[in-house]
Amino acid sequence: MKRIDNKSDLIKELNILRNKAKTIGFVPTMGALHEGHLSLIKYSNKQNDITVISIFVNPTQFNDKKDYQRYPRIVEDDIKKLEKAKCDFLFTPSEQEMYPENDTREFDFDNLDKAMEGKFRPGHFRGVALIVSKLFEIVGPTRAYFGEKDFQQLTVIKHLVKTLNIPVEIVPCPILREPDGLAMSSRNMLLSPTERKHVPLIFKTLTEAKEKAKTLSVQETKDWVVRSINADPLLKIEYFEIVDDTKLESVTDWKNKNTSVGCIAVHVGNIRLIDNIRFNL
Ligand code: PAJ
Repeated sequence: MKRIDNKSDLIKELNILRNKAKTIGFVPTMGALHEGHLSLIKYSNKQNDITVISIFVNPTQFNDKKDYQRYPRIVEDDIKKLEKAKCDFLFTPSEQEMYPENDTREFDFDNLDKAMEGKFRPGHFRGVALIVSKLFEIVGPTRAYFGEKDFQQLTVIKHLVKTLNIPVEIVPCPILREPDGLAMSSRNMLLSPTERKHVPLIFKTLTEAKEKAKTLSVQETKDWVVRSINADPLLKIEYFEIVDDTKLESVTDWKNKNTSVGCIAVHVGNIRLIDNIRFNL
């Protein structure tokens, strides 16, 4: 695996490969890699000749300075995992490299950025769109891999690519979980041992909500989820929304269960975790 910090070096390397008609798979990340990230690399390796991963903790998508500061940065550990996962290029740019000057672009997300994460993390998706569009320009991938763990992000990226005519195929990848159901996340390593014991309730609640949805209305299901999470003294729910999987509009009845997704954000001490579940089946 070749590690490159400089965008013009990466562009040069990838141009050579593109000229040889090699397909390029791209996995953008913020590092502190776990099996979830590595699964994206596996998909990319299967479908492309070359796989590029980026690690960049993107300041413009953090609305909370403390969250940005405490975000784990463990590139040396990440590299060990990447060597095993068989990645061709690791791109680790500096902030100066990605934002040589203030980027004032605004994006039209057709309201996809208004609900859920957008409501509680103002400016977050603009920051995601800024960095992902820059990375796409540098890497010029054939395919790019995004986890369904960040369901709203995936939806926003699909929209971005469509509206900006970026010639890349967005490949959604399933959520990887710990044996107790907790969705893998770089932020999990920031939890105290006690907090770690409490957080499996998030996925347990989502799974039970799917059962409840067989007899309860949408609103009753939502209320039940809020009560279930808040009954735990260490957890505090920020939102639980049931939305359709393309427009992310609130669902008011179960007519279209196949396309309904329950999205949740929970505070555990000063850590914030998100997860989601589909209501089909
Ligand atoms: P990060 O949180 O590092 O996630 C990188 C990619 O890994 C995202 O597509 C995310 O959805 C996926 N991922 C995270 N946890 C996962 C899990 N448990 N199972 C499957 N996939 C998982 O998302 C970001 O970084 C940033 O916003 C980024 C897109 C890199 C832009 O800065």
